[in-house]
Amino acid sequence: MTVKKTNAVLRVGEFEPTFADELAMRYEIPTLPNGPRRAQFLAEHANEIRVVVTSGHPGVDAETIKALPKLEAIVNNGAGVDAIDLDAARRRGVGVSNTPDVLSDTVADTALGLILMTLRRFGAADRYVRAGRWGRDGPFPYARDVSGLQVGILGLGRIGSAIATRLLSFDCAIAYHNRRRIDGSPYRYAGSPVALAESVDVLVVATTGDHRTRNLVDRTVLEALGPEGYLINIARGSVVDQDALVELLVGGALAGAGLDVLVDEPNVPAELLNLQNVVLFPHIGSATARTRKAMAMLAIRNLDSYLNTGELVTPVLRPRK
Ligand code: 8YV
Repeated sequence: MTVKKTNAVLRVGEFEPTFADELAMRYEIPTLPNGPRRAQFLAEHANEIRVVVTSGHPGVDAETIKALPKLEAIVNNGAGVDAIDLDAARRRGVGVSNTPDVLSDTVADTALGLILMTLRRFGAADRYVRAGRWGRDGPFPYARDVSGLQVGILGLGRIGSAIATRLLSFDCAIAYHNRRRIDGSPYRYAGSPVALAESVDVLVVATTGDHRTRNLVDRTVLEALGPEGYLINIARGSVVDQDALVELLVGGALAGAGLDVLVDEPNVPAELLNLQNVVLFPHIGSATARTRKAMAMLAIRNLDSYLNTGELVTPVLRPRK
């Protein structure tokens, strides 16, 4: 494979290892420095850069877009583009691509894992054995069945639908809330997040994370879920009022939570670390070797395609010609 050396593409932020390796095999490109060297780099190179390649946090803010006058496209390795200022990109006609579909099954598997671990307390059960408590303290306490529960999905998109399909094989009754009802959906529609939360045992957050969904799961929604209800989040920490969540969990006003995402990753509120009814994952929703490879290859296809044809393969925003 020949490595293409170009200053027309700029790397912004830290990449997970598969994407970093696959990209480095194909492109030799500069990285936007942090700190005081950033201004000097931009003064020297800003006018050459047509495409930014990025991946989640810290993303591409309005200031970075403004600093790149020739920018035409932003290629994101990841489905969520919440770390990119889409309004600033739209205003400038800058295209944005993501990596949809290829991660839906893996993220849905993660959601199922979190549901099972949280309600059946599988993680706590494993720790119980390892701590030698099985022999010492006797049988592990009873947990809560997942089979046959009412599950609400907030955000029935590609990932939400894959979660619902999996839950059907657990004989769960599925309800959902989206901004708009989906014509022909086999699932019960709830008119608001509160209406959804008060009618289910488990609320699964699977929305996009953006300004429209910020704190969509607020205190009222969490209170509607109630002391027998569980919250599962595989979307973005920003969708849930995390302070309210912590407070309600500590006070016993929620039965438990399974969280793959937090507001300020990798910082975890100290209270959550001490709660046995909370399962915490380090944002591993899509983190399997096969899926990370598929995401990396789709991001690279977007980059190749844009440089060769001016079109993105999986655009979230189309570039203005
Ligand atoms: C990754 C994700 O953590 O796709 C997303 O939106 O949150 C995750 O799959 C991220 O893209 C980093 O590679």
